[in-house]
Amino acid sequence: MSNFWSAWIIFLTVATIVGSTWLLMGNRKGRGEGQTTGHVYDEIEEYDNPLPAWWLYMFLASIVFAIGYLIAYPGLGKFPGMLGWTQVEAWQSEIDKAERTYAPLFEGYLAQPVETVAQDPKATKMGQRLFANNCAQCHGSDARGSHGFPNLTDNDWLYGGDAAAIKHSIAYGRAGQMPAWGAVMGEEKTAQATAYVQALSGQDTDAALAEAGKAVYGTYCIACHGVEGKGNPMFGAPDLTDDIWLYGGSESQIRRSIANGRQGQMPAHKDLLDEARIHLITAYVYSLSQKPIQAGAGAQ
Ligand code: HEC
Ligand code: HEC
Repeated sequence: MSNFWSAWIIFLTVATIVGSTWLLMGNRKGRGEGQTTGHVYDEIEEYDNPLPAWWLYMFLASIVFAIGYLIAYPGLGKFPGMLGWTQVEAWQSEIDKAERTYAPLFEGYLAQPVETVAQDPKATKMGQRLFANNCAQCHGSDARGSHGFPNLTDNDWLYGGDAAAIKHSIAYGRAGQMPAWGAVMGEEKTAQATAYVQALSGQDTDAALAEAGKAVYGTYCIACHGVEGKGNPMFGAPDLTDDIWLYGGSESQIRRSIANGRQGQMPAHKDLLDEARIHLITAYVYSLSQKPIQAGAGAQ
């Protein structure tokens, strides 16, 4: 706020208080009980009685309160008030209070392994809330992901689904690097590789094309996606045989993945969230994919 506006606000505030006090005092006495002002309308006469005392004193009290308040708290332009109260500090002290309340709870969970915390409904509820605030915009409120954002509930992992791998994904982020092969391989080989990937995941496709694609795959793809096409968590290379797709399993999407490449980015959260919160979110994410295993549905 500039000095001019500060002074202007102080002037307006003080002038309003002085003005209303003057009005009040000037009108506190009428001409006396029973006197009329001389106004008559429809035979109704206007009396000039003084203000009721209780009303006058309440008004005076509110003026005294306003002056006291403006001395103690910020309100008069840039004048900070004698008490030194600020909005920011009040907000900070609420945050500090919440931290003091929750810190022991967070510390308690942090001391337990992720697998144990994942069994605690209260902890996973907290993790779920943190997930909603920090992760849902990309992975969806139900963590089922969408095009380019992995489903975290399906037990199919790019980088591994044990507690350590999940925590690493969250804290340090991940950067998938699927190179663009279109220009390197040309039209024909791209079509062959596409057919081979379709065949790997059990889709109907041109058998001759897929057969030719096998050799292409052996040359260009095997290093990351593996001999059997089951992927590699070291690079985050997806399993191409399970018919679970990060970018879609239609012929055109597979062709696009191969020709143009894909670069999924999972942002690092270690500077955004403290260790205890990352621990709780990890436990929540971990718990999501544990249920099918416990139910005996089997992995993948
Ligand atoms: C800006 C979008 C974005 C946000 C926010 C985000 N993620 Fe991700 N996340 C991604 C993408 C994209 C990938 C896949 C990276 C890749 O393709 O290599 C990913 C990957 C992951 C993985 C690895 C999955 C696997 O299959 O191995 C986990 C676990 C994960 N995210 C959890 C989280 C959690 C928990 C949060 C919140 C703290 C979060 N993500 C926030 C975009 C996001
Ligand atoms: C340098 C390692 C690397 C090589 C080589 C590589 N890929 Fe990939 N590929 C990846 C990674 C990593 C991803 C995931 C990208 C992401 O997370 O955004 C991926 C994704 C894909 C996808 C998308 C899968 C999905 O679930 O949507 C397809 C299809 C694919 N690759 C096929 C191929 C084929 C075919 C070749 C050979 C022509 C190949 N890749 C070579 C690393 C590689």
